[in-house]
Formats: sequence, C-alpha cells, structure tokens
Amino acid sequence: MAGPCEFARGGLFVGPAVGAPRFVKTKNSEYDAHVKTIIEPFRIKSIEPIRMTTRDERERILREAGFNVFLIRAEDVLIDLLTDSGTGAMSAEQWAGIMRGDESYAGATSFYRFQDRITELTGFEHVLPTHQGRASERILFELVGGPDKIVPNNAHFDTTRANVEHSGAKAVDLPIPEAAEPKNRHPFKGNMNVAALEKLIADVGRDRIPLVMVTVTNNSGGGQPVSMANLRAVRAVCDKHKLPLFLDACRFSENAFLIKQREPDMKDRTVREIVREMFDLADGATISAKKDGMVNIGGLLLLRDEQMLYRASNLLILTEGFITYGGLAGRDLEAMAQGFEEVVHDDYLAYRIRSVEYLGEKLIAAGIPIVEPPGGHAIYIDAGALCPHIPPAQFPGQAVVCGLYRIGGVRSVEIGSVMFGNAPTATGKPRLELVRLAMPRRVYTQSHIDYVIEAAAELAASKANLRGLRMTHQPPVLRHFTARFEEI
Ligand code: F0G
Repeated sequence: MAGPCEFARGGLFVGPAVGAPRFVKTKNSEYDAHVKTIIEPFRIKSIEPIRMTTRDERERILREAGFNVFLIRAEDVLIDLLTDSGTGAMSAEQWAGIMRGDESYAGATSFYRFQDRITELTGFEHVLPTHQGRASERILFELVGGPDKIVPNNAHFDTTRANVEHSGAKAVDLPIPEAAEPKNRHPFKGNMNVAALEKLIADVGRDRIPLVMVTVTNNSGGGQPVSMANLRAVRAVCDKHKLPLFLDACRFSENAFLIKQREPDMKDRTVREIVREMFDLADGATISAKKDGMVNIGGLLLLRDEQMLYRASNLLILTEGFITYGGLAGRDLEAMAQGFEEVVHDDYLAYRIRSVEYLGEKLIAAGIPIVEPPGGHAIYIDAGALCPHIPPAQFPGQAVVCGLYRIGGVRSVEIGSVMFGNAPTATGKPRLELVRLAMPRRVYTQSHIDYVIEAAAELAASKANLRGLRMTHQPPVLRHFTARFEEI
C-alpha cells in the first residue's frame, strides 16, 4: 500500500488540511487534498555539493574568523541561512531566459519583456531597472531626501535607513507596539502605527516629510507582514496630507500570501489581486529583486509621477546605466521577468510560507523562543530569552550564531546589539537580541531543515555552555560585517 514516504512522515510541510474532502479542487490550486503533505513544488536538475566538515574543523574555522560568520568562506558552511537575498535557485525557464537575453545597449527586447511583466503585475507603467534594491533607494532619496527632511517607515531596513541618512534626512521607524513583543501572535506585526504617523505629521509639519514608506514584509522586525487594512489606513493619512506613499516591496508576494491567509476579508482574493491592490495604493516602490524577484541580482524603481521619472532616469544614467538596462545585463532582465511571474504561484507560496512556519513550529517545540507568529522569509530566534545568562553587552545573539555554526555548520545572522550597537529602539523598549535564520528560495529541502532543527535543539539543550563575547575590533560603520570577537 502506498503510504507517505519516510521523508514526508512527521509532516514537513504537512498543512492544516485535516478533514478536507478528497480530490478537492480549490479556487487557487488544484491538488489531491487527501495527501496533506505540502511538497517542494519542483524537481532538482542541477545540484551544488555541500562540503561536510567536522566539529573540530568548524571550531578552528570559527576562531580564525574571529567568531564572525561573515568572515567564514561559504564552502565551510553546511546550511547557509545568512540571507534570503540573491541566494535563491532559478528555474529552468529563468535559465532559458538567460540564453535569450538581448544585450543591445538601448531598447533591448529583454527590457520590454521585463517592463510588460512588471506593469501587468503591479500596474506601474514607469519601471526603472537597477542593479539591486539599495541602488533604487539611493536614487529615490537623492531626489526627495536632504537636510531637515524626515522619512517615516514601519521599520527601515538598514540600507534604506543609510540612504535616507546619507541624503541628510532623518529616518523614523513607526512600528506598532506589538512588534516589540516576541510572543505576541498579532497576525500583522509589520503594520505601521497610524496614530504615530498622524502625530509625526502634526509635530513636524507635512512639508518636512517628502514621502511615507512602508516595508513589506517588515524585515528588521521579524519578517512580519503588513495588512491590507493597515496599508489602506496609511494611504488615507497620506491622502489627507497630500503625501506620496512608497513601498519597500522586496517581499511583496510573501506579504500578499500572508494577507490572504490571515486577513479574513481577503481570503477569497487571488494573490495576484492582492499584489495589485498593494501596489495600487502606492505612488512608487523600491524593490530588491534578489528576494521575491527570484534572481541573484537585480532591482527596480517604480514611479507614477512623470517629473520624478524624468529626474530619476537622469540619475540612473549617471551611475547605473541607460534606462533600458539600469546596470544589469539583458539576460538579468529576462530572469527577473520570469521570476516575478513564478513568485506569485500559489503552490510555490504555499510551500514557501509553510516551510518557514514548519521551522518555527519545530523550534518552539524544542523550547527555543522565536518571534511569533512565523513571518515570510525567516525565523528569528529570541536569543535574549534563550540565554538570560548572557547580558546584552556580551552579545547573546552572536553567542547563538557561533553555537549553531559549531554544532551544525549552520550560518545565521545576529540582529541585535552587534548590528545596532546601543542605538535607541523605536518603541523605547530594550532592544531584542535576535538571530535570523533566513531561508533561501527553492534551495533547501525538508531534510536540510530537519537538520537545522536538530542542531538548534542540541544548542538549546546545552545552552548553559554558550559563552558571551567581547568585541576586539570594530570598523566605524556597519560593524557587524567585519567586527572580530573573543569568547569570555
Ligand atoms: N529593503 C529590504 C526590506 C531588504 O531586506 C533589503 C535587503 C533591501 C531593502 C536592500 O536590497 O540588498 O538588493 O540592495 N536585504 C538583505 C537581507 C540584504 O539580508 O535581508 P539590496
């Protein structure tokens, strides 16, 4: 009798389909509902070997890298959860696009195919390609930033904040209070605090605010989604004060799927419809295509205003490239055009979101506190709660990062006092000491994830052995990339 294979037993991606009738044809996806396991919706045609290392080797490697996993070679990592950015696997169709790429300097066919796909998906007619998200941010804030300006966001990503501040403007985070409570299972912890936005506008005056930005999903705050109701409310405030609304839309598709799952009046809408409404509410967007664009390099700047398009195009030509390639090759535009199509498929999103949720559920079951509920692209371990014996000044997040590497060769990233120093938090509460396990798209299978869970469970069982760290070297900016540590 055919039963679930060993691999699927225990339910990786066993979804909550209990009691569902057999052979149901759902609105968005056609599958045999009798089989509840959500599988990776792809086969593997090309593989990259993983080099196995011993614990002794990893101990040596970690010490040589000054206990900073950014300084470890990728070949010395078994499972790399450092980032979901540019680390995804492309599909056969995307690789076919790579061969089809039209490398004409101006007016390449690949650009028009890319532009048509983006316009169809987002409704934006003005589409500028850039080499990655921060290039779009740099152009945008060179246009609208400047001294005395203030840019509100639910939570700026670090490059966005850096680009706002580089222009002389001030970046202000306005998350909802629930975002600071890891165990609070509010379904949309990425939401912007609308009352705080109103207050900021009243306090500083609308003239100092060039635009309002909302990051979907909110990466700095746990990969948490923003609800459609919240986006509409922010739009209403922007309309009232005649302010443009921009999205940082790197993970727009994961946000749309979480809206469909969690926002009751949105469950009958297709992901494409939700994506379209999210973009319809905005006057512009910056996007790193290295996330939901499913490519290894690429970005976009979407605009409605003709004047702004004109000025942005000139800046693009100055530093990125002509407006029909923006610092990319024609083949990159082809891969992006196809990536933006594949990322809104229901089967892909069901697998994607379920696999992150699965990792989160198993970590909770192993007694590891995380930011709940699981969000879109990553699980964030609450290292401060896991290691109360390590004070923030001794970097509990970095201790967990080192522990995961030692035990399993798993690479994660600290998002806490190493990354942010002792800068004040937006909520005024103590900074969360987090460790992000980001999931590259379509790269790892269930057994890879089970391996990570096993390593994390071993770490939790022996957490008393985790030691705090002292920073022995720090560069003046973005110190987490190259800082070195020693164990206390
Ligand atoms: N906005 C958000 C929300 C991001 O997460 C990132 C990148 C960017 C903008 C910048 O995009 O890297 O293409 O220039 N996040 C990566 C990460 C680096 O690991 O979360 P980029």
